[in-house]
Order: sequence, then structure tokens, then C-alpha cells
Amino acid sequence: MTGPRGNSTGGASDASPAILFDNVSRTFTTAGRRAAVPAIRDLSFTVEPATFVALLGPSGCGKTTILRIVDGLLQGDTGRVEVFGAPPKPGPDIGFVFQNFRLIPWANVQDNVEFGLKSMPLTRAERRERADHHLELVGLSTFRHAYPGELSGGMKQRVALARALATEPGILLMDEPFASIDAHTRELMQIELMRIWTVRRPVVLFVTHSVDEAIILADRIMLLSPRPARVIESFDVELERPRWTYDARAEPRYVELRSYLSDRMRELVVSDPASEFFGRDLVPPRGR
Ligand SMILES: Nc1ncnc2c1ncn2[C@@H]1O[C@H](COP(=O)(O)OP(=O)(O)OP(=O)(O)O)[C@@H](O)[C@H]1O
Ligand SMILES: [Mg+2]
Repeated sequence: MTGPRGNSTGGASDASPAILFDNVSRTFTTAGRRAAVPAIRDLSFTVEPATFVALLGPSGCGKTTILRIVDGLLQGDTGRVEVFGAPPKPGPDIGFVFQNFRLIPWANVQDNVEFGLKSMPLTRAERRERADHHLELVGLSTFRHAYPGELSGGMKQRVALARALATEPGILLMDEPFASIDAHTRELMQIELMRIWTVRRPVVLFVTHSVDEAIILADRIMLLSPRPARVIESFDVELERPRWTYDARAEPRYVELRSYLSDRMRELVVSDPASEFFGRDLVPPRGR
């Protein structure tokens, strides 16, 4: 971080990036709504290899849409998207941890983790070995025969993480993966993720509504506007890694960035005409 202000606009650069969005727009039309919904408009940013990026933005601004475009599940209407220099396509090089786990309810933990490996040229034994390794990594080896319905929310999330990691993807897309986990487990999961990321170093796009989560995890934070999403400011988080070995939250840089981002997030919601908070002053009067 260089001061509280953003240090880049997130625009496309000349270096060869892992992910490139160049003026990408995507509008949805739904049967129920007559008006088209522009989810992202003229969105440009790049992500360098081995970088952990947090996407921070108001609800409904288009964050999931961005991840789905990177995954190749969805396409932009206009603009250019490249993942490792080629148009995006779904496959084992991209791991996706969804907003709501999306485990297969009738398959046990082991089979859920093996699911994504079936598209890879691996023998059955190799698949099993990889699944075992990743279940160990997330601390769930003893639950390999359990079914999703028998797991807590935190455990389900760990299965989803193991499944996404098992293909050893170059890009890991994480859509509010810890949002429905209690605060304590969430902190442990953040450390787990950091630990795994430090070894593998995939590119991570991590969607969150939490300013704290964004700062503690990311190399770079992209602050997105209300819908349609564009990058308003981009921040490098220059806190030393590993961040779990000291009290990073007490660092002046952390405190400064947290305060700045929290204010910006509040402003964005209050000044968005589409928001129910539009025009309200959410800051309590001083002295109360
Ligand atoms: N498949 C779809 N069909 C129609 N509209 C869609 C579709 N996917 C997304 N949208 C619309 O695009 C906008 C952005 O949605 P998106 O899911 O990307 O937001 P988000 O930032 O991930 O929201 P949240 O923080 O609530 O998860 C929303 O208005 C949503 O209704
Ligand atoms: Mg979303």
C-alpha cells in the first residue's frame, strides 16, 4: 500500500498477465424484468502470475459475473478477456469455490473431491491419491466417507476448497467462500488458505464483502463500483507475509487501509441511486 489512496486504476498493462480484461461489458436480460441489467461495463484490469487479488464491492455489483467470465462459463458481450494469453475455457486449470459450496449431495467427501479430477488423464489410483492428499491438506481425512449432509458448514467449505485445489489449478476463483462460516472458523480457514497459497502460489481472485478479509489475504485489492462493475481503485497491500505469524491487524498500514476502504465502501452504497440506502447518511453524528 502506498498511502491510503489507490495506486493504480487496474487498467490493462503491457506485461504478459495471467488474467486480462480489456474493456469488457456484459448485460443480462431476464424474462421477469423488461429492462436489461448491465452487470459489468468497460471493465479493464490485469492480474500478474502468482498474485492473490481480492475483489471488494457492493452486493449485486457484478463480482460473480467477473469470476464466471474468467472461468469461461460466461462470455462478455464486448471487449477482450485472456487467461494465460488465451480465451478462457472451463477445465482443470481453473478451480472454482462457489458462493454456496455446490457439493454433490449423494457423493461422499472423497468422491466430491475426486469429481473434478475425472477430466484429467489420471488413473483411478492417482485420483484417489490426489484426493487423499488434499483432504489431508484441509484436515478432513477422517471424514472421507461422510456425506455433505453430515458435515458442518465449515467442513463443507473445506471439502469445496479441497475439490478446487485437487486439480492443482493455475487460477483459483473463490466466491465469498467463507461468508457463511462462523468468525472463529473463518479466521482458521483464512490461515489455511494462506498456508496453501504460499506453497502453490496460484493466481487467486477472491470475492469478499469483508474489508478485513481482503486486507489480511490479498496482495492487491480491487475496489469495484456499484453495478455495472468497474475498478474504482486498486491497492497493493504491503504487509509482510506470512501474515499469521504476527498481529498484522495492529500494523499502522493495516489500520489506515481498513479505515479508508470501509469509508469508501460506505460512500459507494450511500451514493448509488439503485441502493435502498441512497442519499442516507450512514455515519452517526460525532459524539454519540
Ligand atoms: N444469469 C443471470 N441472468 C440474469 N441476470 C443475472 C445473471 N447473473 C447475474 N445477473 C445480474 O447481474 C447483476 C450482477 O450479479 P452478480 O451475481 O455478478 O453480482 P455480485 O456482485 O456477485 O452480487 P453478490 O455480492 O450479491 O453475490 C445482478 O443484478 C444480477 O441480477
Ligand atoms: Mg456474487
